[in-house]
Amino acid sequence: MDATDIAQDLEHVLYTAEQVDGRLKEVAAQIDADYAGREVLLVGVLNGAVMVMADLSRALKSHCTMDWMAVSSYGSGTKSSGVVRILKDLSTDILDKDVLIVEDIVDTGLTLSYLVQNLQSRGPASVEIMTMFRKPEAQTSDVDVKYVGFDIPNEFVVGYGLDYAGRYRNLRDVGTLAAHVYS
Ligand code: PRP
Repeated sequence: MDATDIAQDLEHVLYTAEQVDGRLKEVAAQIDADYAGREVLLVGVLNGAVMVMADLSRALKSHCTMDWMAVSSYGSGTKSSGVVRILKDLSTDILDKDVLIVEDIVDTGLTLSYLVQNLQSRGPASVEIMTMFRKPEAQTSDVDVKYVGFDIPNEFVVGYGLDYAGRYRNLRDVGTLAAHVYS
């Protein structure tokens, strides 16, 4: 769906599908250049990263492989503890592999901070992070993100994989929700 299909649900559009696509191609070119001569293993973090993974992998001009993890904040359902539970682990051994974690958003940074530590302990050649969106004002955890699509304000955003109550992941554009949707 496009923003025009659900205009009444959105407060404003932050990035159109075209802007997301354009920026993703720039990031893909940077990744191609940085990994020249090496084959990167893209690790997508379910569920939000599905759209980024599909588009980033196809924008690359080099070979890559893909795997997935699903994680959840431990216990309370919030991420404040920083303790992350693995719901689905990788299917592949990452020993000596160049791993690039693919995310839709880095908010507090707690999920990525945990994931990087966890993957580093498995003996990969390298572990880096690519995220389509990052909220610098919300970040509390020190995590080194190598590739960022867009830095965005600390607002609740939906679209391009980002959900509210499970919805809006299939919105091509990225925007903020109108108050009536969540109040
Ligand atoms: C989102 C996102 C990251 C995490 C970032 O996932 O995909 O994994 O939150 O938040 P943090 O930086 O504060 O740790 P979410 O738990 O919403 O699950 P989803 O991908 O299924 O939407």
